[in-house]
Amino acid sequence: RGVMAVDLKSLVRSIPDYPKPGIIFRDITSLIEDSAGFRQACQQLADSHSSKGITKVAGIEARGFIFGAGVAIALGVGFVPVRKAGKLPGETIGQNYALEYGVDTIEIHANAVNGDDNVLLIDDLIATGGTAVAAISLLRRTGATVSHAGFVIDLPDINGAEKVRALGVSVEALIAFEGH
Ligand code: PRP
Ligand code: MG
Repeated sequence: RGVMAVDLKSLVRSIPDYPKPGIIFRDITSLIEDSAGFRQACQQLADSHSSKGITKVAGIEARGFIFGAGVAIALGVGFVPVRKAGKLPGETIGQNYALEYGVDTIEIHANAVNGDDNVLLIDDLIATGGTAVAAISLLRRTGATVSHAGFVIDLPDINGAEKVRALGVSVEALIAFEGH
């Protein structure tokens, strides 16, 4: 396979009625099991941000860690884990965000990024955008610049990317799946 030769969309497995009836789960485990597909996904997200002055990549637990780490290595910058609450040992700052039922909290170490940083946010998928919006808000509270976000998969009919763009953040997604 040559450079950028992989059809990433064909590597994403679609599982109907998971986690509940009527939902089609877009499963990236099949993509990351493919060495060329995994490499290409990370490389594409890195290449489109290589001239943006990115100083850190932030990835959202859990699936955003997988791609975010690869993008950070490709860009030659450090990786910041945006974790679910209660997992980080140092001083943290947190942000609540709405789930379909209830709320969840994400956290970063308070000193993980600062006003000198230009952070690229990476996650595997954007649906409602609630997770990404919370992560951007959290990272910005440190004074860091967050102007770019990259996702492997967008579900454009849910309009999450528009919520992120409304924050002044560019959104790149490698694959789109129409429908919910
Ligand atoms: C999924 C996905 C994104 C988020 C997108 O994560 O990996 O992080 O949902 O949804 P949204 O745009 O509607 O906020 P999930 O919370 O299922 O957890 P995981 O990454 O730990 O599997
Ligand atoms: Mg996730």
